[in-house]
Amino acid sequence: MNILVVGGGGREHAIIQKLKEDPRVTHIYALPGSGGIAADAVCLGGSATDIPAAVEAAKRCAADFVVVAPDDPLVLGMVDAMEAEGFPCFGPRKNAAVIEGSKAFAKDLMKRYGIPTAAYETFTDMAQALAYVDACPLPAVVKADGLALGKGVLICETRDAAREAVRSMMEGRLFGESGATVVVESFLTGPEVSVLSFTDGETIVPMVSSMDHKRALDGDKGLNTGGMGAVAPNPCYTPEIAAACMEQIFLPTIRAMKAEGRPFKGCLYFGLMLTPDGPKVIEYNCRFGDPETQVVLPLLESSLLEIMLAVREGRLTGTEVRFSEKSACCVILASEGYPQAYGKGFPITLPETAAHERIYIAGAALKDGQLVTSGGRVLGATAVAENLPAAIERAYALADRIRFDNAYCRRDIGRRALEALQCRM
Ligand code: AMP
Ligand code: GLY
Repeated sequence: MNILVVGGGGREHAIIQKLKEDPRVTHIYALPGSGGIAADAVCLGGSATDIPAAVEAAKRCAADFVVVAPDDPLVLGMVDAMEAEGFPCFGPRKNAAVIEGSKAFAKDLMKRYGIPTAAYETFTDMAQALAYVDACPLPAVVKADGLALGKGVLICETRDAAREAVRSMMEGRLFGESGATVVVESFLTGPEVSVLSFTDGETIVPMVSSMDHKRALDGDKGLNTGGMGAVAPNPCYTPEIAAACMEQIFLPTIRAMKAEGRPFKGCLYFGLMLTPDGPKVIEYNCRFGDPETQVVLPLLESSLLEIMLAVREGRLTGTEVRFSEKSACCVILASEGYPQAYGKGFPITLPETAAHERIYIAGAALKDGQLVTSGGRVLGATAVAENLPAAIERAYALADRIRFDNAYCRRDIGRRALEALQCRM
C-alpha cells in the first residue's frame, strides 16, 4: 500500500515509523515531512495546510490511504477534500474536528451532554467579557476560541491580568481571529493526564495514558511550549480512574458527537485534570498529541495500519489494540531560547540507537546531506524499559549522546510521575 502522511513533526515521525512495521506498507510519503523524516519516508515538501495541493499530492503518489495528523488541516477540512476525491483517510471530518477547532463548541457540547469540565462562559462581546472577569472567581482561565498553536490559554491570577487577557485576545487579536470569541472558565487543580484514543464513531479504545510537560523550564517553570517531554503510562491514572473516565467522559463524548450528526473517526485526545471532584476535561484535541505520541506509539504492539484502517471502515470492535506493559519516556531536545527567539542551522550528530531507543526528528532540515536544526523543538529522544525509572534513565542516556550546538532540554522529565508512583506504593 502507498501511504501519505500529512505533517512533519516528531509526532508524524513516530506515526510513520510505526506504520512501516506493517508489511503491507510498500511506499510511504510525508507532506511536508522534514530532513529527519527523510530517512523513513519520501518527503514531498509544501504546506500541510494547502488542501488542494495535498489532494494533488495524494493523486501523484497514488495513495491508498492518507493519514492527516496535524490539527490545522483537519479543522480546515482536509479529510473531506481527500474523501471527495476517493482517498480513504485516517482523521475526523471538518464537522467533527470542530471539537478542537472551537473551544466554545467543545464547552457547549460538554454542558449539554453532562460531561464533566470546568464551569465557563463564552463571549463574543468584549464589554460583557470584561464585566464578567471583574466579578468571576480568581484565578480566571481565559481561552481564545480557535486554534492558537496550543498557546491560546492565559491563566490570570489578578483582575488586571484577566482584563488584559480579554483585551489582548479580543481587541489586540493576540491569537488572530481565534480570539474573536473567548471562553472564560474556572481554574481547576490536580494532576493532568493525556489519554489518546482510537474511535470509529461507535467504539472507543483508549491508548496507554501519558503525561506531557508543557513548561519550558525544570520544575514546571517558564513559558508554555508545545511540550518538552512525556512519559507513559501516567501513574496518576489508576484503573479505577480509567473506568470512571470511560463511563463519564469517553463514551458520552463519542455518543454526543454522533447524536449531533458529527461522528468522530480518528484519534480523539482527552486532556484531563484529575480534580478533587473527579476527572474533568481540560481540552479535546482532534488528533494525536505531541510529544505524547512519541511515548504512546513505541508501546503499541498491534499494527497501527490495521487499527487505522479499522477506524476508517467502522470495524474497531474486534480489532486488536494491544499495548506493552512497559514504560516509555521522551525527552525533547530544543533550541536554547525556545519558545522565544532561537538560532538555527546547527549540525546535528545522531548516535547509533539500540532496539529500546528511538529518535523522532521534529525541527531539522537537510543541508548538503547534513542534518541541521531548523525549529524550536528539534527532536525527541525516546526510550522504552521495564518500568518508569529505567525508561527515564535510558531516555536521558540517549539524549546525552545526541549533539548539536545550542541544545537545551529539561532535566526533570518524569519526576512528577515518579513522585506519583511513590505515593501509590
Ligand atoms: P489547553 O490548551 O486548553 O490544554 O490549556 C493549556 C494548559 O493550561 C493545560 O494543559 C492546563 O495546564 C492549563 N489549563 C487549561 N485550562 C485550565 C483550567 N480550567 N484550570 C487550570 N488549568 C488549566
Ligand atoms: N501535547 C499537547 C498537544 O499535543 O496538544
